[in-house]
Amino acid sequence: VKDIRLGMAGLGTVAQGVLEIINNNGALISQRTGLQLRVERIVARTARPEVDLRGARFSHELSDLYNDPAIDVVLELIGGETDALDLINQSLLAGKAVVTANKAVIATHGNEILLGNTKAPLKFEAAVAGAIPIIQAVQSGLVANRFEHLLGIINGTSNYILTAMQEQGARFEDALADAQRLGYAEADPTFDVEGVDAAHKLTILLALAFDSAFDFDHVYVEGISQVTPADIRYADELGYRIKHLGIARQVDNGLEARVHPTLIPKEQLLANVNDVMNAILVRSDAAGDTLYSGPGAGGSATASSVLADVVRVARILSGEISSATASDPTRAEIRILPITEVCAPQYLRIPARDEPGVFAHVANVLSNHQISIEAAIQKEPRSRDAIVDIVILTRATVESEVVDAVREVSAIDHVVGPIARIRVEALD
Ligand code: HSE
Repeated sequence: VKDIRLGMAGLGTVAQGVLEIINNNGALISQRTGLQLRVERIVARTARPEVDLRGARFSHELSDLYNDPAIDVVLELIGGETDALDLINQSLLAGKAVVTANKAVIATHGNEILLGNTKAPLKFEAAVAGAIPIIQAVQSGLVANRFEHLLGIINGTSNYILTAMQEQGARFEDALADAQRLGYAEADPTFDVEGVDAAHKLTILLALAFDSAFDFDHVYVEGISQVTPADIRYADELGYRIKHLGIARQVDNGLEARVHPTLIPKEQLLANVNDVMNAILVRSDAAGDTLYSGPGAGGSATASSVLADVVRVARILSGEISSATASDPTRAEIRILPITEVCAPQYLRIPARDEPGVFAHVANVLSNHQISIEAAIQKEPRSRDAIVDIVILTRATVESEVVDAVREVSAIDHVVGPIARIRVEALD
């Protein structure tokens, strides 16, 4: 049995999960891998007397980790950007393997980290989709494949909120507060609800699957904060659920890379992935469709992936496997399509006064833009204000055309209030 000495930055939810798993399953891990995982040192800004450090030394300086010759692997579990980036770089420079759960740092600084580091392995399975070994699947299980698309639910907090709104009619704010209490949300929950966290994860998946640089700046980002109970209800009537999806797809003229709320048919498996669960559907040339699902956030779920990476880097350090990271920070020529060039069906909710001819006028504008209508519903006017919601599902249309049409529809007499627009994925 070989000792693997860990230095851990952070003492939050994921770090506590790491301590707990080693305590509960350390002997099992050792039996399976021949590795004895020992947390030697923990560095955190604030001490937490209530947490049993299980014999690890505790201090406040991150440099204590990379300067300590008794540490083989640094676990970066502090989140945030500046300090985490510095810790990762300094640790790699000191020749220590690094395992991180920090999607923001990898998505936005991954290229510079990889270009500057030739010395030690860096792994980040826990950065994408919590417990799901999706990076392993892409880099190892599916290594013989070309990828057509990777798409799915990659933010647990958003999925938790949308599920609560859909199933219990919960208010957005209450559902978010629950997700925070359960330890799912980022320190800044706007990263979750505005799609930034999902975009970080999609950036990583895209780079690994399409062998390119990390290109966060070109990922299209939209969160769930504009999704209303009315949209959830109308989508339901039309046979759809609203999920927050990350989509990376190879199309003829480039790559789609987008995160946004999406209508998906109710009967699809993805539509039934609820609460904090994530799921990623991968389509690749040899394997066909494969689906990966599991808890996308939470302490022990994420710590499970952290420890899988620890075992992986230990095997790299012992020369048992090679350390290839697979994404190529020098290769940026893959073209990510601007969202205006993406072609997808769309859901439109158009609030209008209940007057003759409004629907015909709307249909006429859509037709002038070559937009076909797949389905439409119109409800009784809301009681007091005599406003109706005209709800339309279009067939697949290039986004720029829909944007122009929506602008024209907004200017129609009797169309009131903002028009809601949500993209649709048929998943066929
Ligand atoms: N805040 C993230 C989520 C945590 O809700 O998915 C896991 O990355």
